[in-house]
Amino acid sequence: MSPELAKPGLEGIVAGNTDICCVDQGKLLYRGYTIADLAEKVCFEEVAHLLLYGELPNKAELTEFRKTLDGFHGLPKPVIEAIRAMPADVPMMDVLRTGVSMAGHFDPIKGTSVDDFKKRAVWLIAVTSDVVGARFRLLNGKEPMSPMPGLSHAAQTLYMCHGVDPDETSVRLLDLTLVLYAEHEFNASTFTTRVICSTTSDMVSAITGAIGALKGPLHGGANERAMELLSRFKTPEEASAWVNNALAKKEKVMGFGHRVYKNGDHRAHILEREMRKLAEQKGRMNEIAIYDAIKDPIVNKERPIYPNVDYPCGLTYYLMDLPLDLYTPLFVCSRITGWCAHYIEQSQDNRIYRPLSNYVGPTERPVP
Ligand SMILES: CC(C)(COP(=O)(O)OP(=O)(O)OC[C@H]1O[C@@H](n2cnc3c(N)ncnc32)[C@H](O)[C@@H]1OP(=O)(O)O)[C@@H](O)C(=O)NCCC(=O)NCCS
Repeated sequence: MSPELAKPGLEGIVAGNTDICCVDQGKLLYRGYTIADLAEKVCFEEVAHLLLYGELPNKAELTEFRKTLDGFHGLPKPVIEAIRAMPADVPMMDVLRTGVSMAGHFDPIKGTSVDDFKKRAVWLIAVTSDVVGARFRLLNGKEPMSPMPGLSHAAQTLYMCHGVDPDETSVRLLDLTLVLYAEHEFNASTFTTRVICSTTSDMVSAITGAIGALKGPLHGGANERAMELLSRFKTPEEASAWVNNALAKKEKVMGFGHRVYKNGDHRAHILEREMRKLAEQKGRMNEIAIYDAIKDPIVNKERPIYPNVDYPCGLTYYLMDLPLDLYTPLFVCSRITGWCAHYIEQSQDNRIYRPLSNYVGPTERPVP
């Protein structure tokens, strides 16, 4: 086969059909609804229902969904003990990967029908925020919280970490990021989910693999790296000097660029607007000046590169006083819905993924 047939990163290759999400330059749709419309009008649980069940829930369905989710909170004791035993310097994403995998041994749903998959997906939404909350508290010398029934998923996730009723602004902003992060078509972690599913392996294995894929800084890990970068500078002048130098050296700046979006990420625009309002409310305009000092030269380059959702997300979480190593795990608490929706879709029309490689090694030769 000729080498030019290989497409690095599978760029431009259509790897399957989906009716869950459409990502293109002009739009981002979850099952036909634009992300802007969803971000304005519905909460994360409604989006999760849309992705998993195909439609937005009516009032009764939403109540039922929330009740089921509430009922699934609370980690089995051995999982909490395993989290307790993990060394303090293990990154939260690694704890989450292991925690979800271990929780899988206590999966309360036994079957493999589509209905069982949907229930398992809702259970996994609860498990991810429980693991994040338990780890956060144990690291801070506190015992994991029991969930508070009746809270929204965003509020519950914050409650499981902090143990107090979260403030309204934090809940609203976390909910917005959960809506924006919930689904994004055949990105690397979702594709990982589908590849694992295609072998007819189980959902927890697929999700465990997806968490590993999301952790990388070229993918979900970018929100933490973007904030790490912003926090290095005390003034916009320092940030400008750094970014101009980085661009001259052709270094990548985390939180910018996207395989599909070449004129900007729909989600970044929505979140950036809210982030600016929050900074204004909190009188944190120096952080915004640093944010802009990095962004402006990159978007004004001759060949501009635009922020993806991770750039404003990093600063949003920072302004909400969330610790850095929660940022990518919070992404998991949302994207788990998209992953599970893709697992279900793949399982219903499955053919094992088995692409070809382009062999560029030595020609045939005898063993000496
Ligand atoms: C997202 C990403 C992995 C997409 O990768 P990709 O589609 O393979 O794009 P490439 O890495 O080939 O980039 C294309 C060009 O844009 C440049 N570019 C892409 N992202 C860039 C960034 N974040 N900062 C500076 N330049 C960037 C590349 O250097 C390359 O320039 P060249 O054509 O002169 O070589 C990439 O943009 C990136 O690494 N971004 C930073 C990590 C990040 O924010 N990830 C979250 C994605 S939602």
